[in-house]
Amino acid sequence: MKILLTGGAGYIGSHVLNLLGQAGHDIVVVDNLSTGRKESLLYGRHEEFSLEETGKLEELLKKENFEACLHFVGSIIVPESVEKPLKYYQNNTTNSLNLIELCVKYKINRFIFSSTAALYGDSAPGGICTEETQVVPINPYGRSKMMTEFMLEDTAKATDLNYVALRYFNVAGANVDLKIGQCSPNSTHLIKIASECAAGKRDKMAIFGTDYDTSDGTCVRDYIHVDDLAQAHVDALKFLEKDAESAVLNCGYGHGYTVKEVIETVKKVTGVDFPVGIEGRRAGDAGTLISRAEKIREVLGWTPKYDDLDLIVRTAFEWEKQL
Ligand SMILES: NC(=O)c1ccc[n+]([C@@H]2O[C@H](COP(=O)([O-])OP(=O)(O)OC[C@H]3O[C@@H](n4cnc5c(N)ncnc54)[C@H](O)[C@@H]3O)[C@@H](O)[C@H]2O)c1
Repeated sequence: MKILLTGGAGYIGSHVLNLLGQAGHDIVVVDNLSTGRKESLLYGRHEEFSLEETGKLEELLKKENFEACLHFVGSIIVPESVEKPLKYYQNNTTNSLNLIELCVKYKINRFIFSSTAALYGDSAPGGICTEETQVVPINPYGRSKMMTEFMLEDTAKATDLNYVALRYFNVAGANVDLKIGQCSPNSTHLIKIASECAAGKRDKMAIFGTDYDTSDGTCVRDYIHVDDLAQAHVDALKFLEKDAESAVLNCGYGHGYTVKEVIETVKKVTGVDFPVGIEGRRAGDAGTLISRAEKIREVLGWTPKYDDLDLIVRTAFEWEKQL
């Protein structure tokens, strides 16, 4: 298939590019390298420009006969979104609107969107989120993504476009062959930061909030290995090809770990101890976010292979050491 992949030089996009490239698809990546890196582009052709440059984007779509678009471009740091909301509405909402509009214009009718569990905010009873759980994001990042989901839903009703919105829970780890991994600067991802500590790249780290309503007071998240998540995109593409329907699907394993449990696992797996401070809650953090994970298995036939926190941590750490 001829595929447009935005944000393919980034963490998740590069892992999906790796699988789609291995499967022989013809892929063009649009990425401005603001947080991604060229070395992560293992397949495809790279067009280096920003999605804001709609003229260049339109030229590309007019020239190539894309059959599908996978949209990973986004700004993803929740605390930053609280400080600079308009950056998030620009990159996550306005840029998505322009892209969706061009996809409709050039009849690219299969669209896969990187959505997020941040849409659920604190709304799920016990923090267990089904796709039917009300979306009530509690930070600008989540709101900027929610609006794109709404645009896709309404556009799918009004045009021939079909989409799959994948609501990622906490993505972690590196490619099991260690060819690619997470490189984004200023990452706030827990396993990435703890791996940086274990690899000697940071002196210490902090836990934000120990007074949540969880087993040890720290936030609970559902950690999904990035290669399993990448496979979900391959499965979503097959679904769009075969069924020509739309779907909104959670991407998680259906169980979670507290921040303290994750840090202890990093220390155990790497054999390295490092100082961990305690700070207050961060703005915009929900207490517990765990996926109800049945629907994606039913709809896409997705079968995860790496539901193992030790393995997730080991790949993150091995990647961090060689980075
Ligand atoms: N990482 C997670 O845990 C997580 C969780 C939920 C959802 N998501 C979503 O997944 C997507 C990818 O996340 P990631 O972790 O790979 O982030 P990332 O920062 O590693 O990747 C984003 C990529 O997009 C590129 N980019 C950013 N803005 C651009 C623009 N305006 N024009 C062109 N290129 C641009 C960057 O250079 C980078 O390569 C995002 O949309 C994010 O919201 C990520």
